[in-house]
Amino acid sequence: MARIAVFSAKPYDRTFLAEANAPHGHDLTFLEARLDPHTALLAEGHDVVCPFVNDDVSAETIDVLGRIGVRHLALRSAGFNHVDLDAADAARMEVSRVPAYSPHAVAEHAVALILALNRKVHRAWNRVREGNFAIDGLMGFDLVGRTVGVVGSGQIGRAFAEIMQGFSCEVLAYDPYPPAHFPGTFVGLDELFKRSDIISLHCPLTPETHHIVGPGSLAQMKDGVMLINTSRGALVNAPAVIEALKSGKVGALGLDVYEEEGDLFFEDLSATVIQDDTFSRLLTFPNVLITGHQAFFTREAVGNICATTLANVSAWESGEGELHQVPR
Ligand code: NAI
Repeated sequence: MARIAVFSAKPYDRTFLAEANAPHGHDLTFLEARLDPHTALLAEGHDVVCPFVNDDVSAETIDVLGRIGVRHLALRSAGFNHVDLDAADAARMEVSRVPAYSPHAVAEHAVALILALNRKVHRAWNRVREGNFAIDGLMGFDLVGRTVGVVGSGQIGRAFAEIMQGFSCEVLAYDPYPPAHFPGTFVGLDELFKRSDIISLHCPLTPETHHIVGPGSLAQMKDGVMLINTSRGALVNAPAVIEALKSGKVGALGLDVYEEEGDLFFEDLSATVIQDDTFSRLLTFPNVLITGHQAFFTREAVGNICATTLANVSAWESGEGELHQVPR
């Protein structure tokens, strides 16, 4: 039985982790605090720390965790760009993650953003509630026959491509490591940017993909392109996209992630003044739809995340069963 400190614990984390813990019997401590170098001390007396995506798992934090005896970081996410892996190695700390929990959850959310933006569902909802049944300004386009570019053809990219093929879209994909079989045609990144009516990002955040959408790539895209990012915020250079929205180069933008989301997402800030002017500007566009990192948030996905996270800890502790280490 491991003692696990769960950081950034929300009510749904408590419910699903407690349920998934039945076969494991680990000792779970739920902490509302975000993990950072200061809150790390709250993990004193625990062997395992369980962070979420916006926790600060930097070298500084890992240094504190190492000194108080934490030996394992059990990430309850697929992405691990928020973890300093070199520091974890130096502290001889195991790092596990949840490589797959429901690629469909994220892919389906990306499609939800596309459909809502295209048919202006977010605006129609407001109008109808106010008794305004005028449809002027709500015109969309048929998806059939449109070209959809998928950047990153992993599990989520594949699930997304399959759905878009169901709409009879032409699917183009770019991936430096393309799989043998994929429901779409692999092209170079430049060609994907030039030919796509809709571009959806499904690659991890790495030095190569940082600001993959920025002034250079935006200039290559079709006028009025629809951009969807459900992957990681820093894939998109937000100030550059704001300029592209103002000029009409970008016709619609759907975001589930935002580069500076760590100060915003997962909290109720409805009674506070948002200090991030770039984010606030994005909210003013009628053709921008933002959700707060909820693409993963289905019952199936959260259940799988919790089950795999705790199974990772059990496997690490017992040396039996599958331990999903982060890829190096
Ligand atoms: P995956 O590892 O199955 O697929 C990622 C793909 O991206 C791989 O095929 C890889 O070769 C490719 N890739 C690597 N470098 C690339 C580059 N420079 N350009 C284009 N493609 C590149 O990962 P999965 O499960 O499909 O997840 C994709 C991303 O989605 C994750 O890295 C994570 O950031 C994000 N995500 C977002 C969630 C949300 O709630 N919004 C939830 C889960 C994941």
